[in-house]
Amino acid sequence: MKATEIDWDRFAEIIEKHAQKKWGLIPLLQEVQERFGYIPPETIGAVAEALDLYPSHVQGVITFYAGFSTEPRGKCVLKVCRGTACHVKGGKSILRVIKRDLDLEEGETSPDYQFTLETAACLGACFLAPAMMVDREYYGKLNPTKVTSVIGEYRKPEGDE
Ligand code: FES
Repeated sequence: MKATEIDWDRFAEIIEKHAQKKWGLIPLLQEVQERFGYIPPETIGAVAEALDLYPSHVQGVITFYAGFSTEPRGKCVLKVCRGTACHVKGGKSILRVIKRDLDLEEGETSPDYQFTLETAACLGACFLAPAMMVDREYYGKLNPTKVTSVIGEYRKPEGDE
């Protein structure tokens, strides 16, 4: 399935699970994002209706939380730390290697929707500097060789569509 196709049946299941729950908005949005890799803008109206909210309220929450995105993102989201502890331990060259290996700039997603590259002010793991995350997994004490091998683990096998 392409990242831009919406499985509306699956979406309806998520809505049904969270509808009418007073504090359901964040868990609902998290589940939509986990399932689709992003929050398709065309689902915002239905989310608002299910929880009896204004679409502008839903949009506001999506904008407020950095973890939510209305743009299709890659299957693997790389977050590279730009914080001071990582910077002094060579974080800049780690970011350079990742950009080169993935042929992506910050904020970009690969055309096959396999990778999205992001940076963060601090990943809260300074003792691992220089550090990055792939989805929820931490990788620390990185060097160019290690980072290339981590990226290799997340590449799609040849011929896998
Ligand atoms: S500065 Fe990089 S994890 Fe804190």
